[in-house]
Amino acid sequence: MTRFRSVLVCGLLFHGVWLLAQNAAASPSNPQLASAEIERKVNDLLARMTLEEKIGQLVQYSATEAHPDKSAGPTTAALNVNPPGPGGVDSYELAKKGELGSMLNTVGQGLTNHFQHAAVDNTRLHIPLLFGADVIHGFRTIFPVPLGTASSWDPELVTDLAHMAAEEARTAGVDWVYSPMVDIARDARWGRVTEGAGEDPYLGSAIARAYIRGYQGNSLSEPTSVAASVKHFAAYGAAEAGREYNTTDMSDLLLRQVYLQPYHAAVEAGSATIMSAFNSLNGVPASANPYLMQTILRDEWGFDGLVVSDYTAVMELTHHGIALNAASATDKALTAGVDIDMNSHFYDVELPALVKSGKVPMPVVDEAVRRVLRVKFALGLFDHPFTEGPEVTKAVPEHRALARRAAEESFVLLQNNAVNGQSLLPLAAKAQKIALIGPLADDSRDMVGAWSGANNFDDVRTLRQTLSERAQQHGASLIYEKGTDISGTSTAGFAEAVNAARNADLVVMALGESSDMSGEAASRAYLDLPGNQQQLLEAVQAAGKPVVLLVFSGRPLVLDWAAAHVPAIMEVWFPGVETGPAIADVLYGDTMPSGKLTMSFPRAVGQEPLYYNQLPTGRPIQHPDPAHPNAYVETKYVSKYLDVPNDALFPFGHGLTYTTFRYANVSISKSTLSAGELTAAPKEKPLSATAEVTNTGSREGTEIVQCYVNVRGASTEQPVRNLKGFARITLKPGESRTVSFPLGYQELSFYNVKSKQVVEPDTEYTVYIGGSSTAEQAAHFRIEP
Ligand code: BGC
Repeated sequence: MTRFRSVLVCGLLFHGVWLLAQNAAASPSNPQLASAEIERKVNDLLARMTLEEKIGQLVQYSATEAHPDKSAGPTTAALNVNPPGPGGVDSYELAKKGELGSMLNTVGQGLTNHFQHAAVDNTRLHIPLLFGADVIHGFRTIFPVPLGTASSWDPELVTDLAHMAAEEARTAGVDWVYSPMVDIARDARWGRVTEGAGEDPYLGSAIARAYIRGYQGNSLSEPTSVAASVKHFAAYGAAEAGREYNTTDMSDLLLRQVYLQPYHAAVEAGSATIMSAFNSLNGVPASANPYLMQTILRDEWGFDGLVVSDYTAVMELTHHGIALNAASATDKALTAGVDIDMNSHFYDVELPALVKSGKVPMPVVDEAVRRVLRVKFALGLFDHPFTEGPEVTKAVPEHRALARRAAEESFVLLQNNAVNGQSLLPLAAKAQKIALIGPLADDSRDMVGAWSGANNFDDVRTLRQTLSERAQQHGASLIYEKGTDISGTSTAGFAEAVNAARNADLVVMALGESSDMSGEAASRAYLDLPGNQQQLLEAVQAAGKPVVLLVFSGRPLVLDWAAAHVPAIMEVWFPGVETGPAIADVLYGDTMPSGKLTMSFPRAVGQEPLYYNQLPTGRPIQHPDPAHPNAYVETKYVSKYLDVPNDALFPFGHGLTYTTFRYANVSISKSTLSAGELTAAPKEKPLSATAEVTNTGSREGTEIVQCYVNVRGASTEQPVRNLKGFARITLKPGESRTVSFPLGYQELSFYNVKSKQVVEPDTEYTVYIGGSSTAEQAAHFRIEP
């Protein structure tokens, strides 16, 4: 079951005095929401609604508790849970009066139908409820955390996973998912990096589109589609110092060029809803920010779906200090563009008086209601408000295969050094005695990661279970020692662990974070292995046997010691229900690892925020030597640390497999072109960058070929390089393939100081193609003066 929370909200007394004009509604442009028929029905219904009924559509509460006697089905005893305010709010009574529009984290056919009957059977206008839930990486069949699935660089896979989650969720009455999270994350201290696709806007946009396609299908009214809610708008991932819920402050250039890109991609892909964020952006809380929700989202992007606030974000406007009381928070949030108040208990209490006094104009309310009704009609809820048919209540066997493939594709082989002249992985047949050590090897709770609310832990196949079976099949034996707890301080288990290592041919260590060390409210100031796991690793390594380190984590960790002392390291994130089989497949080489990092792994936490697409400085670490053109000097007075190199320990895009690839003949189809030609046809791709990639090893393998672009001479400083294309290719030993990346206005343009997307004359471009963000082979072209 998803998280339950109780939050206290203070009832405040004063009325605010702030109002912003709301733009008149443009006609819908999202093909999944736009239809003359839907607009006619929305307007017809709206014309018949009372003020209370309208406000009801903008109110969201949850009810999550089951009746103690489950066989009796949910009853009203289950209903007074969670909503804030003195004495709580009875969601069921509100639904019966038509004063509740949607519910969150109310899951299961019994519970959702129960509330739906209240709304549909008892009310004058029979308006159905929407049921939203945090379906983040699967509903019952849990697949890897989003940072893991993104590491597959496989958007088609992400679409299939999202579709599978939608299908399962819909059987349990959920028709709206609070996903995907597309916040760009450059700081591994922030716990929510686990929920997104990492640090890059191009990859993040591709993944965002993939989720929307999977959740929403071709039509929202299909029985396997759910409405998506792209979140958290906007720039939540740039929280200062990586501290959860903290302030973000950035230039419009950075906002548009980096942070907004994936939200825009999701909106263009048709996301029916969007969630406003907790953070403030440039001094204005995102959930009361007309620049974000009006100017950008609605006016520039033409978004016609609904905006829901994050959990109690409307109430939190008082904590941000921009609202003196509940009325002013309500006024500011609604007029800035938050259509639905998630659980603040503010819209329902404050809006009637605000509208009656004329402080909030009726058209503002009408427009918000219109957006909610539009989504409900598009989902077909008026025709099919109830959920019928078999309900998925646990991981589905047919879905496990996809979850397993996703886990395998998500793993990133960070290092695979040779031991006795041969790469340690895959496990060789001669490893007859394996010691499996560590607190993550056998704990099903800590293999699924954060936000796995509706999961059953019994569904998880642990690493220990599968690896011992697999070792037996290979004629090997496996000894397991936990060694310590995830946050352990006792060394009582070390001696047995070291002993097990001594008696083995090879050691597999399963170390890392617990599921709840990443996700919401899980920022960390240290990025080491928690507890005394580092000490355990050092003690076991000192036993002298080759060590394969499996890192379970929801974020990049600092693995500098391990990188220097342990031959093989694989990042496995939190793999989900198929943890054991997926890891065993990859360890034994039945499946090749193929993931690549989507966040940089630092050498030290002091490097954070760390990301590959940095802006250049006037004093790069390799400082041009004024006396010798094309030569560099290293001096003290350059942009660097005294105590750690600037670069990542494992960079963005890095990931190994059991074969190797050679890149050659990187070239570009033209050496010059004009800015006018690119701007006049923004959809065309007049350039093509190519490279020849060869599998130089003795096994078939998959490579993620990456194309990066740098521009110099522009009016604004541009990153040292930016990802602008990628392709997953599989090559047999010795096979070569020419891989091409089409480039045009979208890939070559950037933002100028006036926040305009431009291509500028008299600029020079370098295109790099290779297997990571450190690719060196390059080709060049110019935009004519
Ligand atoms: C989180 C959202 C989530 C919402 C509803 C909030 O605390 O920030 O990501 O969708 O709760 O559970």
